[in-house]
Amino acid sequence: MPPGSEPPDAREPRDALPPEPLSTPEPFPSDAREPRPPWQGKRVVLGVSGGIAAYKSVQAARDLTVFGATVDVVLTPAATEFVAPLSFAGVTGREPCRSTFGIGADGALHMDLARKADCVCVAPATADLLARAASGQADDLLAAVLLATRAPVLVAPAMNDAMFAHPQTQANLSRLENVFGYRRVGPVAGRLAAGEGSGAGRMVEPSVVVQAVGRALAGDSALAGVHVLVTAGPTWEPLDPVRYFGNRSSGKMGYALAAAAWQRGAEVTLVSGPSGEEPPWGVELVRVETALEMREAVLDRAGGAAVAVHAAAVSDYRPRQVLSEKIRKSETGSGMDVPVVSNPDIATESRRRMPPGGVSVGFALETSDVVARAKAKLANKGFDFIVANRAGVEGEGFGADTNRAFIVEPDNAPRELPLMPKDALAGRIMELIEGRLAG
Ligand code: C5P
Repeated sequence: MPPGSEPPDAREPRDALPPEPLSTPEPFPSDAREPRPPWQGKRVVLGVSGGIAAYKSVQAARDLTVFGATVDVVLTPAATEFVAPLSFAGVTGREPCRSTFGIGADGALHMDLARKADCVCVAPATADLLARAASGQADDLLAAVLLATRAPVLVAPAMNDAMFAHPQTQANLSRLENVFGYRRVGPVAGRLAAGEGSGAGRMVEPSVVVQAVGRALAGDSALAGVHVLVTAGPTWEPLDPVRYFGNRSSGKMGYALAAAAWQRGAEVTLVSGPSGEEPPWGVELVRVETALEMREAVLDRAGGAAVAVHAAAVSDYRPRQVLSEKIRKSETGSGMDVPVVSNPDIATESRRRMPPGGVSVGFALETSDVVARAKAKLANKGFDFIVANRAGVEGEGFGADTNRAFIVEPDNAPRELPLMPKDALAGRIMELIEGRLAG
């Protein structure tokens, strides 16, 4: 539908809707972000050791700060060779810490930082830093903080691939993870520092560091360790070898939900129809194309899922027959009828397979009577709640980076959430799920 045009049935009565959603939403700047759980109000020590990837940590420090964390950057002497302390001061609003012999607000600096931290993240963690941590040295401020803290520690290794593959580094990492309970994110394979190969050794992107810090902070989430199944994207229903029936779903909402669940400590499986979105870090991705393939993938896993979030826009119909030869205009003349059959309802079927006490969440995209239609689906499909949104409104629904949704529950009045980025909405939905799991 062209932007600004009316949905086909825009003049139908919308008596079930509160008045506000009829107004045109204010555009929400796509890069605007707000403080949000699990980072909001938390204290993060971001340790930076001396590797070329240190420049990426400036972005991570910024994003953690914008998400509401208080970020204390601790630089090793080598880190300052790669990036200036002022860069971190600029994005966190706090002076980075460097001296082992400093005094904090409440005592010796290394103890003060260690005690107050909710998470200590070292990014990049060089081979040398890992070796010093694994052997319990306290020869600079960062190593001392690592020894002194009882908060979860996350390392994002970054080094040359040969150094990473060396048995010494692997042994250090294994000791840190298996004996001392460190968490690790990356490294990934990819081009390393100029001319230095492309094996595993590259630090993960700053956005992944931020997500992994979220996961480390969310230890007390009701989603920690819970298996969450998310469906996303459209389905494509083939007609012949070159054509299919599909819809405009981008998968953005489902991918944001999978990332939000992972950030809260869940074990996440994302069953996705065709989507160009980047797969979220840490999530098991199962790619499917048709509704029948999605059904099989979901039903196979529903028995082990405590939570299912059905964000996929599943095609209601599929062509009755898939032709093995391309349909040619010369053979169909001025037109053709395509017989279709209904697809099975994946949400309804998977609900029956989920364990008792499981939480099932649906989505409903409508052009009118959004809330009333969502209410009808709640009972029919066994959803605990539905996230209802509108089609044909700029900044909402399919393809947009933002969304405005109504939460429709069986026993409560529908609630309208403000227009917000899809990743923020995904976080709000996860909070609702946490509430249901805890209750
Ligand atoms: O009926 P409608 O398609 O609007 O229902 C939307 C909800 O049901 C979504 O959560 C969607 O993922 C789910 N659904 C499904 N299988 C279908 C159709 C919809 O799981 N065949």
